[in-house]
Amino acid sequence: TPQTHFTVAIDGPAASGKGTLARRIAEAYGFHHLDTGLTYRAVAKALMDQNMPLDDEFLAEKAARSVDLTKLDRAVLSAHAVGEAASKVAVMPAVRRALVAMQHSFAERSPGAVLDGRDIGTVVCPDAPVKLYITASPEARARRRYDEIRSNGGGANYEAILEDLTRRDARDMGRTDSPLKPAADAHLLDTTEMDIETAFLSAKTLIDQALAKN
Ligand code: DC
Repeated sequence: TPQTHFTVAIDGPAASGKGTLARRIAEAYGFHHLDTGLTYRAVAKALMDQNMPLDDEFLAEKAARSVDLTKLDRAVLSAHAVGEAASKVAVMPAVRRALVAMQHSFAERSPGAVLDGRDIGTVVCPDAPVKLYITASPEARARRRYDEIRSNGGGANYEAILEDLTRRDARDMGRTDSPLKPAADAHLLDTTEMDIETAFLSAKTLIDQALAKN
């Protein structure tokens, strides 16, 4: 049967540049884009707003089932505390099951979809024709985050950011259910010394090859 949709799966640690790359690809190909981190953030935010614990799997699953993909507000969900809390709710299998089901159906949108997260190539879209795993040194990622906060007029402490990223990496890579790791057939892209346009061009070569075979 001919394929009516095309999926690009992008994974990587926090501040690796995967979100920027995902948006750039979606824009270039006219594909839908889903930042799956926002879905975990939405669950965390819903629990925080209702003063609920972050480790009650029953409550968290209920919050996960109520996530509306059309109502993910990046501005509200980008807060640092929400990201930390998201990393905690993301260890619960019932939460992951509910969100992965939504993400999987998003991936089937026509003409294509770009999803970025931690487990897209391994769990959400194991059959994606293009899988990218974006890395960068912790120092480069901390520096990017630092520059981003400063350019938005905020105060930032580089050492604290670096420590924070390292802790987040350990939690995301160390959990039992769907830990962050490259899929066996993922293309690794190290952006430590690469700008977004160069990363995009490498991705474009892979996507165009896969589209030609489709
Ligand atoms: O990419 P982010 O900072 O918005 O993600 C927040 C947290 O959500 C991250 O620390 C781990 C979790 N997450 C996940 O477990 N699986 C995904 N596909 C995306 C995010």
